[in-house]
Amino acid sequence: MENEIVLSGIRPTGNLHLGNYFGAVRSFVKMQEEYNCYFFIADWHSLTTHPKPENIQRSARTILAEYLACGIDPEKATIYIQSDVHETIELYLYLNMNTYIGELGRVTTFKEKARRQPDNVNAGLFTYPTLMAADILQHRAKWVPVGKDQEQNMEMARKCARRFNNIYQTEFFPEPQNYYFSGDALKVPGLDGSGKMGKSDGNCIFLIDDEKVVRKKVMRAVTDSGPQTPNSPKPEVIQNLFTMMGIVSTPDTVKYFDEKWNDCSIRYGDMKKQLAEDMVRVMQPIHERIVEFSSNEERLDRIARVGAEKARESAARTLNEVRRIIGFRPY
Ligand code: TRP
Repeated sequence: MENEIVLSGIRPTGNLHLGNYFGAVRSFVKMQEEYNCYFFIADWHSLTTHPKPENIQRSARTILAEYLACGIDPEKATIYIQSDVHETIELYLYLNMNTYIGELGRVTTFKEKARRQPDNVNAGLFTYPTLMAADILQHRAKWVPVGKDQEQNMEMARKCARRFNNIYQTEFFPEPQNYYFSGDALKVPGLDGSGKMGKSDGNCIFLIDDEKVVRKKVMRAVTDSGPQTPNSPKPEVIQNLFTMMGIVSTPDTVKYFDEKWNDCSIRYGDMKKQLAEDMVRVMQPIHERIVEFSSNEERLDRIARVGAEKARESAARTLNEVRRIIGFRPY
């Protein structure tokens, strides 16, 4: 096992869907075998939109159960809830002192959110990038798997590390790098015929959807009027069905329907039935584990508590050093 530290923050919004699973989550499951991984649920970040107390608790639990069901293993990775580790907040304060309002104001995610919620442009929203930097730097993480939309936040995290090192003439913080999944993260298309799977209901299959719901959603996936001439290229809506099949079905199954497409004898109903069948088969073990984890709150709490302890230990080590560097007494 390499000792390099990987950290990823999980936004606690909604349930996991097949796109999340075949994208990031399955890659996390692999990474925990190779790296020293920290995965956390970013519930402090979610406060920028003022959620209700009962929803905060519930969504952290739901996400935890789903990640565990997907194979994140608390024996291998440290999985925790952000708000359980208050060391983060102390580092957040220090980083805020070295971050300028000009640069925070230029962050496009901030500008966009400020436009979308003009009556709630709060300071937490403004300093979102420094909280994210604190999440990362408290473990002195080297790798952070993030999507394109987080690149600017990552740039801010590097800036925070660099600036701290410069001000105090130290090399204490490594600059965290974006981690790209390369080949093993798959892009799952949506069911509504366009682009990739997103959270909207007609477009997406959630891991908690039961068999009946999965079949119904797949049968409703958008198609067209069928191929008009043999061996024609597939339009996006149809290619999407084939792409999904490529992910959950056997190569023989894909080949079978590909041939039917090419000789214009394809029946989308049959194809979707097969696709639903294979999807249900792939999802079933995960689905069962979600139900099992969700039904045992005590166990979830225990896992979260152990994760928090490990994360706090790592963060406290960093903070002790940071306090010394800045000129405070260690804890
Ligand atoms: N900003 C991330 C997102 O919206 C979530 C996040 C918070 C995060 N803190 C992080 C991601 C630290 C990586 C590292 O998806």
